[in-house]
Amino acid sequence: MPSPPTPPTRAAGRLVVLASGTGSTLAAVLAAHDEPGYGARVVGVVADRPAAALDRARDAGVPTALVAPADFDDRAAWDRALAQAVAVFDPDLVLLAGFMRLVGPAFLDRFGGRTLNTHPALLPAFPGAHGVRDALAYGVTLTGCTVHVVDAGLDSGPVVAQRAVEVLPDDDEGTLRARIQAAERELVVQVVGRAAREGLHVEGRRVRFGRGRPGA
Ligand code: GRF
Repeated sequence: MPSPPTPPTRAAGRLVVLASGTGSTLAAVLAAHDEPGYGARVVGVVADRPAAALDRARDAGVPTALVAPADFDDRAAWDRALAQAVAVFDPDLVLLAGFMRLVGPAFLDRFGGRTLNTHPALLPAFPGAHGVRDALAYGVTLTGCTVHVVDAGLDSGPVVAQRAVEVLPDDDEGTLRARIQAAERELVVQVVGRAAREGLHVEGRRVRFGRGRPGA
């Protein structure tokens, strides 16, 4: 009696990470992607500048690409080149991890709905490049971090998951940022793994894991 065919090994979700900075978020995902059953594997890292995140990728043996705006005539050309550089890695999922530029129409046409961003505030509060500083300056007692699906706006896409972080009376921007980013790294690792294993379904502003309809 011939043995039943071995089911194909479920290929881990191919993840491309976009970064502009130190890459501590990328490092957290790289540490997780070797865990059995995690569901995602970083197959490429793309940056808009020679960021330390590219060094972390190379140290981990992950291919990289640099797509710097200064090398292109205009934003649209840069956006097309960025989309092409990501497409080379044939991703199932894209994560913006400290990527400090807005992706445009060419990128969203190809990767919209499966591109996630992480932000160090509880969106829609305090969007933009200074979420931690703005929350501290406003005087909130609770802030946190958000993972959301990327749309054409600035930190405005549908929310996938959030984590609250208390602001302590003696916090300064550095101490608050450190606590938020620790929570953020955990949240990003959890959300990316689950999205890769179960899929993400976006309908309007509602996002659910799985491939079924939200709320089904
Ligand atoms: C994260 O807090 C991210 O939300 C923000 O920049 C930080 C990324 O830091 N946009 P790193 O480059 O991953 O260390």
